[in-house]
Amino acid sequence: MSAPLETATNPKDFKLKTRGLHHAAYLTKDMDKTIDFYHNLLNMPLVVTLALPEPDPFAGEIPVRGDVAGTRHYFFDCGQGASLAFFSWNESFGDIDPDLGVMHHISLNVETVDELYALKEKLEAHGISVTKVIDHFFCKSIYFRDPNGLYLEYSSSTIEYHEDKPFLEDPEPLDEAVKALGDKLSDYKTQFREGHNFVDPDNKKH
Ligand SMILES: [Fe+2]
Repeated sequence: MSAPLETATNPKDFKLKTRGLHHAAYLTKDMDKTIDFYHNLLNMPLVVTLALPEPDPFAGEIPVRGDVAGTRHYFFDCGQGASLAFFSWNESFGDIDPDLGVMHHISLNVETVDELYALKEKLEAHGISVTKVIDHFFCKSIYFRDPNGLYLEYSSSTIEYHEDKPFLEDPEPLDEAVKALGDKLSDYKTQFREGHNFVDPDNKKH
């Protein structure tokens, strides 16, 4: 049971405690090798497989490197509820130096979706552009940039997902993912239907 949200009279005064890393996101040109490395060699279980929606439901709200619409996005559990996540590379990301990992964004963990809305209100009161609250179906998130251009996400998980109960949405998982997930694929595979709303409907109330 989460603690009730402390509300501030002025949204600018809202104080939020982050709860560590939700995920850090990188780019990969070879997701199969990435699965083999993290899931098999480093023992970080593959816990989320996504095929991101087309078009990107928040494209254009905040400048982002590359077009993530339609890319695969896989998450590996690195402990304490945090994940290392990878986007499959496409041409819009530009060239990747194979010797240097390329970071895309970092996501910090917050306990409740209400806190996301309160933080969004606070940041906007300070003149910072923030995306709508996006519903990824396993978490809800907002995105914005820090003064250095770092692309930040704040996320609140909305379902439990872990090694024994992954969240599997990619309709065409890669060969290494099929091997890594085994029977879990048939047990936990979710299929988003046409018309699924990635923009959290509660945005209308704010
Ligand atoms: Fe993310």
